[in-house]
Amino acid sequence: MVDEIKVDVALGRDSYSIIIGSGNLNELGSRIKRIAENGVVISNPNIWNLYGKTIEESLGRAGVKFNYLDVQEGEEYKSLKSASQLYDRLVGLKIQRGDLLIALGGGVIGDLAGFVAATYMRGIPFIQVPTTLLAQVDSSIGGKVAVDHPEGKNMIGCFYQPKLVHIDVNTLETLPEREFRAGMAEVIKYAFLEGEKELAFLEKNLNDILNLDRSLLLRIVRKCCEFKGRVVEKDEKDKGLRTILNYGHTYGHAIESALDYKGILHGEAIAIGMVGAAMVSQELGWVKGGFVERHINLLSDTELPHKIEGADPNEVLNRIVMDKKGRGGEIRFVLLKAPGEPVIREIKGSMIERILTKLY
Ligand code: NAD
Ligand code: GLY
Repeated sequence: MVDEIKVDVALGRDSYSIIIGSGNLNELGSRIKRIAENGVVISNPNIWNLYGKTIEESLGRAGVKFNYLDVQEGEEYKSLKSASQLYDRLVGLKIQRGDLLIALGGGVIGDLAGFVAATYMRGIPFIQVPTTLLAQVDSSIGGKVAVDHPEGKNMIGCFYQPKLVHIDVNTLETLPEREFRAGMAEVIKYAFLEGEKELAFLEKNLNDILNLDRSLLLRIVRKCCEFKGRVVEKDEKDKGLRTILNYGHTYGHAIESALDYKGILHGEAIAIGMVGAAMVSQELGWVKGGFVERHINLLSDTELPHKIEGADPNEVLNRIVMDKKGRGGEIRFVLLKAPGEPVIREIKGSMIERILTKLY
């Protein structure tokens, strides 16, 4: 038995545990057996080639019967069409309400499979087995499940909590380095939200984390899960506090949208967006000198971008206005007064435009 950490998310009848371990993927079957004895695993061929055998053996040992359902790789398959094809296959396999859906993969598979679980037969149990850093620290937790619409990402979705999140940080060893670094942008975001102690820890240990030190990976994943879990417990349906998790997302979303999501990963866009948000805080006189530089240093050391390349500034500005415009033409922003002190404020368009020029 490997060492594992358990983080609980308390949501009444929808409560669940996040199990975090190193080399614990083969423990999945024994855990699942307590939830269901029949089900499907949804993944893509790339991830299945890497981890399918371990899953098959683990479920087989535990006597859990399952079928593997594949989805093609890529964000473009996080669609209603993919969901519809999965419904057909679930019907074909006579999957019933008590059966289990297992999402094995990154945020694309987790969001799509979660959406299918939420809607098939008005909802069947599902568990998340996240295999990217972004999914382990963010997307597998909190129950936001969705597919994309041609007019926008995540436009068709709902809140539907998993029964369990099962994390094996060893799966990060096969993750392409660029994907790992993009996931680190979310880890950096959580450190800024959590506070000075966590931020200093990250700065001190960054190199070893980038070298995939197991105990450090376990720690940062746990810290992020604990932080997100606490926020989701207070605001499951994203009516207030949960917005703080969007630190860096105002500029970030606009940048990736202006680039039509091509050539830039979500985490890379959020990295630049956090620098923009820090500059707004500085312009408002809220933070001490060096706050923006602290963002830039941490991001640069992670080989993440802090400047916009390739996106037209007017297009970025248009997307910000389309996305976040509040009453009176101001834009809602998640800002920090200091590490660990997030606030949500409406910011004037003129200031947003001025800061945008500094991001080039
Ligand atoms: P992803 O799911 O596209 O995975 C990135 C790539 O890594 C894919 O090619 C995948 O096949 C591959 N991969 C996954 N695990 C691997 C492994 N262990 N080894 C080798 N390759 C592996 O990307 P992502 O960053 O995990 O997720 C992005 C998605 O997450 C977006 O659709 C975004 O909208 C969504 N998201 C959702 C939430 C939420 O709260 N639900 C939050 C943030 C992002
Ligand atoms: N990723 C932001 C949220 O889950 O609310």
